[in-house]
Amino acid sequence: MNKRIYLCLAHMSGNEQKYIQEAFDTNWVVPLGPNVNAFEEDLENFFGENNKVVALSAGTAALHLGLVMLGVKPGDEVICQSFTFCASANPVTYVGAKPVFVDSEEDTWNMDPALLEEAIKDRISKTGRKPKAIIPVHLYGMPARMDEIMAIAEKYEIPVLEDAAEALGSEYKGRKCGTFGRFGAMSFNGNKMITTSGGGALVVPDADAKKKTMFYATQAREPFPYYQHEEIGYNYRMSNICAGIGRGQMTVLDEHIEHHRHVHGLYEKAFAGIDGIELKCNPNSDFNANFWLCTILIDKEKTGFDYEQLRVALDAKGIESRPLWKPMHMQPVYKDAPCYINGTSERLFGKGLCLPAGPYVSDSDVEYIVSEIKKMCVSK
Ligand SMILES: Cc1ncc(COP(=O)(O)O)c(C=O)c1O
Repeated sequence: MNKRIYLCLAHMSGNEQKYIQEAFDTNWVVPLGPNVNAFEEDLENFFGENNKVVALSAGTAALHLGLVMLGVKPGDEVICQSFTFCASANPVTYVGAKPVFVDSEEDTWNMDPALLEEAIKDRISKTGRKPKAIIPVHLYGMPARMDEIMAIAEKYEIPVLEDAAEALGSEYKGRKCGTFGRFGAMSFNGNKMITTSGGGALVVPDADAKKKTMFYATQAREPFPYYQHEEIGYNYRMSNICAGIGRGQMTVLDEHIEHHRHVHGLYEKAFAGIDGIELKCNPNSDFNANFWLCTILIDKEKTGFDYEQLRVALDAKGIESRPLWKPMHMQPVYKDAPCYINGTSERLFGKGLCLPAGPYVSDSDVEYIVSEIKKMCVSK
């Protein structure tokens, strides 16, 4: 049997050790230091002008601090995309607010702008108050319809916190995901486009917002010689060791993005003639996904198998795959949350699978994965 093929494994450039060694040599073994500053600078160069970056301990921490920065308080409502990983929504509950889930549209699988506006109007009419923030997600690296979402957000004057955890390098109309909203959350978890082992960042609009985010990320310590606290803060800064990994990873970020897109291109060609398997592609040239994971929908009527049968079969052949995210409005923990649903995410959840796309996935791996799927189609 072939080696096991994973969805998206961490892949080191070889430059990471140098920065880690430097941290040890200079005894910067703390959650601040030269690597943290330089990693932020690298990210700021990547995101371009008018964007500042705060390196944090996780993408989840970035989302949490984004909500703190937006002043979301207990009892507030926050609109969140339902079709996502739980970390998009959980920080809403950390601040004592209530998530209101909005379903996806077909083209991007992300927040449906029409349903978003419907939800905002309905929440205002039901509660007498506007939702405090909107959290769209660029799922699997596919950009959400940011023009329409931003237009609605501006119309109702509700700030946007983008969950771009899966979308480092993705672009919508030539602009990088994570830079549309007031704040953008990135993740550098072990399975993401680049990794710091665990880590994340908040993309913020200016130096003042950066200063304030860092203040909340370091226990909200006031500028006194002793420890004075006038607000509640968090211990969310990135370690200087992890940031060393991040600096090394930045040297291969462009290669990683290119590789994911290359792998997607291979799947696109290979799946072209297979009836009943639909690979998710950019809806049009406005969208330039990073294809963090490549995803397919399976039409059981045509293939004779569903996503779970395929997942089990691929697993037996040494191929990791994963069902699409189970929508938040279907999660027991969120059963009482208000939701605005059109059936899209439930349908996708019932038919979809993520396929390997990471830096270790070779051309021959893609060939092998698709040939195994083809065999199943033939032998149904
Ligand atoms: C959509 C989404 N949001 C948020 C996160 C949270 O990031 P982290 O794992 O770095 O906390 C992740 C990934 O884990 C994610 O996929």
